[in-house]
Amino acid sequence: NKESSSSRGALIVLEGLDRCGKTSQSGRLYKYLEERGHSVESWRFPDRNTGVGQMISSYLANQSQLDDHAIHLLFSANRWEKRSLMEEKLKSGTTLIVDRYSYSGVAFSYAKGLDIGWCKAPEIGLLAPDLVVYLDISPEKAAERGGFGDERYEQLEFQKKVAGSYLALRDSSWKVIDATLSIEDIEKKLREVVLDCMKACHKGKPLSQLWP
Ligand code: TMP
Repeated sequence: NKESSSSRGALIVLEGLDRCGKTSQSGRLYKYLEERGHSVESWRFPDRNTGVGQMISSYLANQSQLDDHAIHLLFSANRWEKRSLMEEKLKSGTTLIVDRYSYSGVAFSYAKGLDIGWCKAPEIGLLAPDLVVYLDISPEKAAERGGFGDERYEQLEFQKKVAGSYLALRDSSWKVIDATLSIEDIEKKLREVVLDCMKACHKGKPLSQLWP
């Protein structure tokens, strides 16, 4: 006889520089939780499947140009258009593993020189993650990994600025994992913090909103 509030899913966000390994780790985590019978979904931002997402995708591929403020707001709108579904899923007990969220939104735009308060403003009222995991890698190491350089932001000098932005955003609640460890070691550490967080959510930790 569980109350709905005591069985909600957890909102888990993975953040980090481009090529830090977020996407493969979120895939592995999803598989792990699913195989253990948890109700879980793997999400990512930008969600390129929506109309807004397609505009973002074309911007990232350098097929269109947009003012820095305009693209910032599109990234934010892309989260807003998924907000109610996100809340529904969490309340119905599904845990969401989300590859990038508002922190990417702020980190990348702040790295371009936009005002940090202005960057945060459109994110206010989105659901706050129950856990933020930061996969920590130096911009130089990330640049050595395959595929770096394919999209607009995958440039060493810019990634250095993004790393600085993430440092400004990080707080003591973030779990930082060394992204240069082996895939298996990262996976193990990730599972630990995620299972702890899921337990807290099952026990009735309330959903909250950005920015806390
Ligand atoms: P992806 O490679 O994880 O799909 O992300 C695409 C790029 O978009 C990546 O360089 C990070 C950047 N980004 C933003 O600038 N703002 C955002 O809000 C998000 C979610 C991503």
